[in-house]
Amino acid sequence: MSPSDSQIEQAAALLRQGGVVAFPTETVYGLGANALDPDAVRRIYEIKQRPSTSPLIVHVNSVHMARELTREWPLTAETLAGRFWPGPLTLVLPKAESIPDEITAGLDTVGIRMPAHPVAIRLLEAANLPIAAPSANRFTELSPTTAEHVRQSLGESVDLILDGGPTDVGIESTVLSLAGAQPVLLRPGMVSKADIEALIGPIEVAGALNPGPHASPGLHEKHYAPKTPLYLLPTGSPAPREGLGIHLFYSRPIRGIAQLRLPAEPHSYAALLYSTLHDCDHQGWDYIAVELPPNGPEWDGIHDRLLRASVR
Ligand code: TXA
Ligand code: MG
Repeated sequence: MSPSDSQIEQAAALLRQGGVVAFPTETVYGLGANALDPDAVRRIYEIKQRPSTSPLIVHVNSVHMARELTREWPLTAETLAGRFWPGPLTLVLPKAESIPDEITAGLDTVGIRMPAHPVAIRLLEAANLPIAAPSANRFTELSPTTAEHVRQSLGESVDLILDGGPTDVGIESTVLSLAGAQPVLLRPGMVSKADIEALIGPIEVAGALNPGPHASPGLHEKHYAPKTPLYLLPTGSPAPREGLGIHLFYSRPIRGIAQLRLPAEPHSYAALLYSTLHDCDHQGWDYIAVELPPNGPEWDGIHDRLLRASVR
């Protein structure tokens, strides 16, 4: 599934005119606008119904473009971008003057990443602009991993949706701040803490379970949740004979209980997690019960999303 050159051109033209375009990245679909156009960026917040206190990620197609959007580009940024870009790692750095406050929610820093999806890269090249894009869902909803999820959440409110098929990584990027004295992991993802530490040494962790002074605005809110109440079961709960269970409990006996299994390997699990939860939402279950996957750095991003999605 790949949009034609003329669809990419149309999307790029819309971005240049201040439009808002949904496009695939390797993590989730993004809701994009020209990062240098404050009015276009404001439309993103309106469409998502998201409070403007939550900053947006800027997507670039080169380290050169990233450097132009920042005041400082430390060696750690060079090293991490060299290893993980294009890919699911967002770096937070002191922002350049050209970045409007609408993107950063008034912060002096900006989150930047180079996406590893051919459609995102073609769009960035055709538009020749940095593209601000949060996930293409309404605020607090589950992020979209297909164009159909975007249509269901945002529908007519977006100028254009580019369909690049289902995304491969399946959960949002890892967010790492390099703006302070110490690197701080703000949001875990499939580039793990261990992957980062192997290159730049020990990093601090901020997050829902360990809120610190560096935590991102918006980090502690309920996010990424299906409409069906989601409960977590302890790791190793009985039922699945292989793989990790998503058990769907339904209270009316006539429908009974269904059990789904996700792969026991973190990358394959993440790739299927949101689409499985979107499917469960459509099936009208009373509850979703998810067995927590094992501990370990490669599962941190998945644990984080499941905790946020769950009823607590
Ligand atoms: O994979 C992804 O990151 C997707 C795709 C579309 O790139 N985008 C995404 O965007 O998940 P969003 O807006 O749903 O999440 C952005 C995250 C939030 O946790 C936000 O707080 C953090 O990045 N963030 C962005 N800029 C920041 C900044 N200047 N300082 C601290 N945190 C920042
Ligand atoms: Mg989001």
